[in-house]
Amino acid sequence: MNQMQLKFLARSENENFARNVVAAFALPLNPTLSELSDVKTAISEAVTNCIVHAYPADESGWITLECVTEGDTLHITVSDSGKGIADLEQALAPFYTSLPDEERSGMGFTIMQTFMSGFSVESEQGVGTTVKMSKKFGARTNGNAR
Ligand SMILES: Nc1ncnc2c1ncn2[C@@H]1O[C@H](COP(=O)(O)OP(=O)(O)OP(=O)(O)O)[C@@H](O)[C@H]1O
Ligand SMILES: [Mg+2]
Repeated sequence: MNQMQLKFLARSENENFARNVVAAFALPLNPTLSELSDVKTAISEAVTNCIVHAYPADESGWITLECVTEGDTLHITVSDSGKGIADLEQALAPFYTSLPDEERSGMGFTIMQTFMSGFSVESEQGVGTTVKMSKKFGARTNGNAR
């Protein structure tokens, strides 16, 4: 078991920071390049959501990132203390976006679900949003070609 926690501002330059931190933390679990790329993509989507949706444009709040390893599995929690999501079912639907004018495709949550082994989201209006994801490395059965 290994664990880390990180708090950083919801600013766009921290998307790349966060995905690379998680990739570095996951390396001892010996992920394939494809598994690592899945995790980085999912982290990007989760962190971008906090940056784009959680806080007002003129003030940035905190994003908390927590990673825990358990055997071959990496558990990740991304949370913000922003405005929260009023209708979670609607937000999770593929292609739903509350910002269609900003060229958002509404696919962030769908991508997280597709690329990770586990996914859940909890949100309360005015309190914040927490996304939990997990990825089991080496889940494939056809050898370990990279
Ligand atoms: N952290 C968050 N805080 C507040 N609202 C959120 C948060 N994350 C997602 N949402 C809401 O859920 C909707 C769906 O999120 P999703 O990531 O699937 O799509 P998107 O961010 O709108 O578009 P895309 O991710 O394709 O750029 C968002 O449009 C937004 O209304
Ligand atoms: Mg998104």
